[in-house]
Formats: sequence, structure tokens, C-alpha cells
Amino acid sequence: MKTLIHDARVLADGKFINGWLLIEDERISAFGEGAPDGNLQADEKLSAGGAMLLPGLIDTHVHFREPGLTHKATIASESAAAVAGGVTSFCDMPNTNPPTCSAEALAQKMDIASRTSHANYGFFPGVSASNLDFLAGLDPSAVPGIKLFIGSSTGNMAVSRKETLEEVFELAARKGLPLMVHAEDDAIIAGNVSLARARAGEDAEVEIAEHSRIRSVEACVAASSLAAELAQKHGTRLHIAHITSEAEIETLLDDAPLENKKITAEVTPLHLTFSSDDYPSAGARIKINPAVKSSADRAALHAALRSGKIDTIGTDHAPHLLSEKQGGALKAASGAPMIQFALPVLLESLPAELVAEKMAKAPARLFGVLDRGEIKVGNYADLVLVESCDPYVVSDSDVLSPCSWTPLAGRSLRHRVVRTWVNGSLAYDRLTGVVSTPLRSKALEFSHS
Ligand code: DOR
Ligand code: ZN
Repeated sequence: MKTLIHDARVLADGKFINGWLLIEDERISAFGEGAPDGNLQADEKLSAGGAMLLPGLIDTHVHFREPGLTHKATIASESAAAVAGGVTSFCDMPNTNPPTCSAEALAQKMDIASRTSHANYGFFPGVSASNLDFLAGLDPSAVPGIKLFIGSSTGNMAVSRKETLEEVFELAARKGLPLMVHAEDDAIIAGNVSLARARAGEDAEVEIAEHSRIRSVEACVAASSLAAELAQKHGTRLHIAHITSEAEIETLLDDAPLENKKITAEVTPLHLTFSSDDYPSAGARIKINPAVKSSADRAALHAALRSGKIDTIGTDHAPHLLSEKQGGALKAASGAPMIQFALPVLLESLPAELVAEKMAKAPARLFGVLDRGEIKVGNYADLVLVESCDPYVVSDSDVLSPCSWTPLAGRSLRHRVVRTWVNGSLAYDRLTGVVSTPLRSKALEFSHS
């Protein structure tokens, strides 16, 4: 099967060319500038009408909730939202039920995804207090890395025992696997909770805005500094998940070329879009861990993304029911769905070249994803066609995830995903609203060097 896409702005080698691209079966077989050769044979020819053709996004930070939390979401539902958002591959986090802390749990997720996922899939095994044997026996070509929670969040997977942390950093280094770390300090958070309770008064609900004072910059700095120290000591490839503060950027990150870095960092579209100033309008919808910080911190995140101090964008897509987002800062669930509108919202403030670098090329490189992440002859044809459009306002009813809400409700956006291909097959078409059947997704393959 050959599909020719012409009249596209094709993003290859970091820049746009006005041209065409040929998909042959599952892979990209050719692309070029200008009009394609008139003799070029294809089963299907499609004009992109001047829209941008980008590499499919690789989201290395999602919480798809299956197994065990399927009242919130499933791999089927969230991977459908993913392809509607131009995300063609995802790596899911281990805080499901059971947590992905054993060979059986990992195999169960792979099995569910092989039957139901619209996008290519990989799963992070997680660290528990007692699963180092499982982690030591992992096949590195089957996983993107290992996920460690230093600090509690949804799923209570926090590991704080110093000896276990030392062993995990050493083990990840020995296996050559990246260690992705959620870095917040539980002791600092607990102290801040007491202060917030005292401020609110006995028995009163603690207001949502307190979340950013509870999950403070200090709590992030303490845990991410500890992670960096352990990574240096053991030679571990550390990826700091969802970095939120200028203080962490200044003390822990540098702008060396990616291949020379031992410590890398991720930012989320939510932290790039919102700050603690937005609690009055968005409330618990922007309550996430780590919390959004000040607007100055948000500006520092943008600057660091552009300067090369921040390496990847991951959505941290974490759906909860709206009914679970009630009850103030100490009760409302933390996390928000983001995957469907991540690309359009990022394009509001960032050039497409940078978004593709941080959300396709760099994740593929850092997590060793084979044959994806760039428009390149021979790579899998994971592609997204995105067009500029008249401004439209996002509403909860647009959300494909069954949680049916988005922190972006009411925002005006100027780009939309038109079509998405996964392994050369059309996986999403905006006009028909159709998401792929049959499924063409594959397990991601990894090579860690
Ligand atoms: O806000 C968050 N939600 N942060 C996390 O670390 C976990 C996530 C979730 O799974 O709900
Ligand atoms: Zn997360």
C-alpha cells in the first residue's frame, strides 16, 4: 500500500520544506521538496492543502489508568484521545492497580495494549520497596526506563528509604536504563499541610490555591537535588519528570547537547500554560503534582525549553472524574487530562519545530525508541497533519476521554489536528471523527546505549 501526501509543509531535519511524502506500507519511503514526480505511483493521493506534516508525537509520560482504575479511563479510550491529538506513541506510568512493579503486571499491560491500543505503546516499570529483583531482571529492549516516585502522588508509590534509593540508582545505571523520577519531598509537604490546615482553621476546607504552597518549590528542590546527587554518584541517566520551578532549572540543569547530558528534564503543557495565578478561574482542574508555581516560574520553564536546559515535553495526561476533583486542596484528586489538546495548546506559544524536537525527536533519543520520532526515510510512518485555523474555543464536550473535562475549557486555540497516521495507517481523521479500526499499533522497541 502506497500513500502520497502532497502540498504539505513537511518537517524534516528540523526545518519545514514545502513538499510531499510517500508512505509505503508501514514506513516512510521518500519525501521531497516541491511537487512529486508525475510518474510516482500511489494507491492513494492526498493533498495536505498546505498543512504542516509533523512526526507523530511520542508522549513519554501518561497515566492511562488500566488496569484497576478503569472508572477513570482505559488504554483504549486514552489512546483514542492520543491519536486525535497527534500522539502516535505513549509510555504509560506504573501507578495503576496493580502497580507495574512485577513481571506479571507488566505483561498484563502489554497484553491489554496489544488488543486495544490505537497508538504505539510502552510501559514504565515502577519501583516499590521490594521489587529490585524484578527490576534487575528487566529486558532493556522492552521498556523505556524505570519510574521512581520520590514523594507521594496518586497511587502511593513513594520510596523514601535512602538505602533503597541508592540501590535503585545503582541498578538503573548498571542496566543502562534511564530513571524517570517524580521529585517532591514528603516531609516538607507534610509540614506545609500542617501550616495550611492552621491557616484554614480547624475543620475548614483548605482552599485549592494552597496546593502550590503545600507542594512548594522547596519540596521540589529538595527531592530533585537528592535525585541529581544520587545520579552523579552512581552514573545514572536521570530524567526529572515535570519540572516546575526556576530554582530547579538554575541549580540542576544545563544546556549541553543532549548526547552529553546525564541529567535531563521534562516539562508538561499544563505547567507551561498555567500558573498559581489561575486557581481562581480554573480551580481544582489545574491541581496537579507537582503543583503549578508562580508566573515567573512558568516564564523560566519557557526560557529553559528554548535554551535547551529542558529536554522533553510529556503531557502527564492523568484523567480523574470531575467528581474526584472536589473537596479542596487536601482532598481533590491531583492530575488532569491533556493528551488530546497538548499539540494545539503548545503551538499557541511555541514554534512547531521546537514542539516536534521536544515531543518526538528528544523523547525517542532519550528513551531509545527505535525508528520513530523524526520524519526520515526508513522510519515508521507515524505522522500528524496539523492545520492553522480560525480560533475555536475548547469545551468539555470536545473531550474524547470518558472523564469529559479539560483544564483548557474556555481557551481559544488556533491549530487543529486533521489526520494522524500510526505505522502508515490512518488512525484519526478529523472530518469523519474516525479513530482507527483495525488497530495498527505496535509495542515500542527500545535500544539503550
Ligand atoms: O498530578 C498528578 N497526577 N501527579 C502524579 O504524579 C500522578 C498523577 C496521577 O496519576 O493522577
Ligand atoms: Zn505523572
